[in-house]
Amino acid sequence: MYLGCAFLLLLAITAILSEKVKVSVYYETHCPCSISFIKKQLYPNYFKLDGSLDVELIPYGNTKRTLLNGTTEFQCKKDVTCRAMRIHACAAQYVTTPNITLHFLNCLMDTQYTQHDIIGCATNYSFPLEDIQNCFSDGMSSALLEKFGNRTELLSSAHIPAIAFNDQYDDRTSQKARENFLVTVCSMFKIDLPSACSFINLDFSGKAA
Ligand SMILES: *[C@@H]1O[C@H](CO)[C@@H](O)[C@H](O)[C@H]1NC(C)=O
Ligand SMILES: *[C@@H]1O[C@H](CO)[C@@H](O)[C@H](O)[C@H]1NC(C)=O
Ligand SMILES: *[C@@H]1O[C@H](CO)[C@@H](O)[C@H](O)[C@H]1NC(C)=O
Ligand SMILES: *[C@@H]1O[C@H](CO)[C@@H](O)[C@H](O)[C@H]1NC(C)=O
Repeated sequence: MYLGCAFLLLLAITAILSEKVKVSVYYETHCPCSISFIKKQLYPNYFKLDGSLDVELIPYGNTKRTLLNGTTEFQCKKDVTCRAMRIHACAAQYVTTPNITLHFLNCLMDTQYTQHDIIGCATNYSFPLEDIQNCFSDGMSSALLEKFGNRTELLSSAHIPAIAFNDQYDDRTSQKARENFLVTVCSMFKIDLPSACSFINLDFSGKAA
């Protein structure tokens, strides 16, 4: 009994110490708003929040698909966008070290997604390109795009990027997150406020620091 309680207490403490907020980002690789959100808000704040975010990337937004003779075809505004979307989808799904994935995708967003660019970004950030080479083939990345397409369509949001917290989506919070990600995400921590959020306690003016 006593040991049982001690064990539960230990579990509770562990849960508190590792409180994470899950952030799901629905985006398009070439949409200026998506690029600016990822480069200026998500990427720097992910590192500032030092392990407190559980980031889920859902590249698909603005892509269209048609069922042609039994197979799904994807249409993007430009061919490079569809290629980029596949690369992002594979990286997001199969590389489980989120900081490396974020470095790699953030790096790619400044490039034209040529072979040279992809290898350059992978090399600079130790991204395991060879581990997911298979995914870039049509079959696997198409299955991923279909999965992300289904999720994006469930969202019924017209805005890209769309941001969901802890698997809950609403337009208002998403809009707030687009405007000021740090303030919005900091308001999601219930127990253990990361030090990067300490301005929330200090600032009583109601304005973002
Ligand atoms: C549709 O698929 C069938 C069977 O795979 C094939 O014979 C046919 O040529 C395809 N049609 C088109 C328009 O691609
Ligand atoms: C990236 O994450 C891994 C695993 O969580 C960690 O060991 C590593 O220190 C992190 N690297 C950076 C640069 O944050
Ligand atoms: C990789 O790093 C080198 C050296 O810092 C830099 O010159 C190059 O532009 C980087 N490559 C990419 C694709 O960012
Ligand atoms: C996507 O949704 C369609 C229609 O509901 C379904 O048939 C298909 O299996 C789904 N695909 C994935 C990968 O979830």
